[in-house]
Amino acid sequence: MQETIKVKSRIDNIEIDVFTPESWDEKKLVICCHGFNSGKNSDTYTLIGNELLSKNIAYAKFTLPYHAERRTDYNDFTLENCVADSEFVERTIREKYPNTKIGILGTSFGGYLTLLRLKMFQHNYFAIILKSPAIKMDEIFKAHLAGEEFDKFKEQGYGINHHKADDMRINYGFYEELENHKISDLGEYTEKILIYHGMTDDTAPYEDSLAFANKNKKTTLISLENENHRYSREVLDKFCREVADYCATDLKEKSEFVEEVERVIKRDCDTYRMNAEDHYDFWNEHIKYVYEEAICLAQNYHADEEIVKLGALLHDIALIRKEGTREEHHINGEKIAKDILLSLSYPEEKMERVLKCVYNHRSSKNANSTEELCVADADILAHFDNIPMLFNSAYNRNNISLGDVRGWLKDCFEKDYNDLSDTTRKWFKERYQLICDIVLHETNKI
Ligand SMILES: [Fe+2]
Ligand SMILES: [Fe+2]
Repeated sequence: MQETIKVKSRIDNIEIDVFTPESWDEKKLVICCHGFNSGKNSDTYTLIGNELLSKNIAYAKFTLPYHAERRTDYNDFTLENCVADSEFVERTIREKYPNTKIGILGTSFGGYLTLLRLKMFQHNYFAIILKSPAIKMDEIFKAHLAGEEFDKFKEQGYGINHHKADDMRINYGFYEELENHKISDLGEYTEKILIYHGMTDDTAPYEDSLAFANKNKKTTLISLENENHRYSREVLDKFCREVADYCATDLKEKSEFVEEVERVIKRDCDTYRMNAEDHYDFWNEHIKYVYEEAICLAQNYHADEEIVKLGALLHDIALIRKEGTREEHHINGEKIAKDILLSLSYPEEKMERVLKCVYNHRSSKNANSTEELCVADADILAHFDNIPMLFNSAYNRNNISLGDVRGWLKDCFEKDYNDLSDTTRKWFKERYQLICDIVLHETNKI
C-alpha cells in the first residue's frame, strides 16, 4: 500500500511516500535519504523498497530541497535545510507510527547527512545503513560536483552543477556549510553502522569509508570489489536483498546486547588506560572481576542474568569515561549507560532495570531488586579477587608502610565484608576466613 503524506516544511510542502506491506505488523519502517542531485524516485529505492516489503518492513522516502521534482529556489538548498527537512520527515513518521522501530538508509550525500544527524540529535534507529557514503562531502563536492569551475563558483557565489541531466545551481554557502561540518571532526560513533562501498568508487572514495570503519569499531564495512559509485545491476540486487535481510533480522538477541556492551566497555577501558594519568587498567583490575562475580551471584539468586551482566559491565562507566566526580559516578553513570543502551536500541522495559543497577551499585542497602543487589555485592567481592591491586593501592596510592599494611588491609577487608548484603555475606563467609587466614595470617573476628 502506498500513501503520500503532505506536510508543510519551512520551505514548501514535502511529500513523504510511505509504502507498507499488505498485512504490516507496524514493527519496522526504514526511511530512505537520497544522494546529491537525485530524488525520492530513484530506482534504487524502488528495488530496496520491494525487498523490504517482502520482509514485512515498511519504507518511506522524500526528496531534499531543490532536488528532483521539488524544485524550489536554489538558495533553499542548504545543509541546514537538508538536516531540518530530514528531521521533520522522521518526526512526522514517528508521530504517525509511534510503536514502530525506525531504520535509516542513506545514500552518498544522504549517507553524509545521516552521519551528521546522528551527532546532532537522538534517533535510536534499529538499523543504520549507508550506501557509498560521501564521508568527506566537502572534498567530493569540490572535486566532482563544483568541478573545474570551483574558482568561479567561489567568486560569483554560486555555480552550476552539470553532474546529471538536471543542471543545479548551487549557492557557495552550501560548500562553506560542508567545510564547517566535517564528519572527521564529530568524534566517535557508538552506533552500529553498516556501510556498503564500491572499492573503485569514482565519486566518494572507498578509503574514506575504510578509515571510518577502522576508527568506529561498531561499523561494519562491506567492500564491493570492482564496483564504483553506481553499482552494477547484479551487485545492486544483492545489496538490496542483504539490506532487507539485515533489517529483518533482530540483531539484538539476548547475548548480543551483552557482547556489544562488553565491547564498548573494553574499548573505553583501553582509552582510559592509554590516556589517563594513572593508566589504570579498569577492565583487568576491576570490571572483569565484578562481571564474573555478578554472574555467579545472578545464578545463586536466580536473578535475570542479562540485566545483571549489563549492570555489572556499565556500573563504573562514569569513572571510566571520567565524567563528573567520583562522588556522583553512579548518577552520571546512569545517564551514560542510558545513552549506550539507547544507541543499541535496547528494549526500554529492560533498560530501566539495568539503569537502576548502575544507579544503586554503591551499596546493596540501596538495592530494590535482586539484580541491583547482585551488582552491588559483586562490586565488593571483586576486591577479594584482586588482592595484588589492594597491595598496589596500599603502597602506591596510600603510602602505607610495610609494617602497617596488614592493619590497613584488615580494615579494608572488614569494611567490604560488612558492606555485603546479609545472604551474600553468609555465602562468602568461608572464603573470607580463608583469605584473611592466608593474606593476614589471622582469622578476622566475624
Ligand atoms: Fe563504583
Ligand atoms: Fe566498581
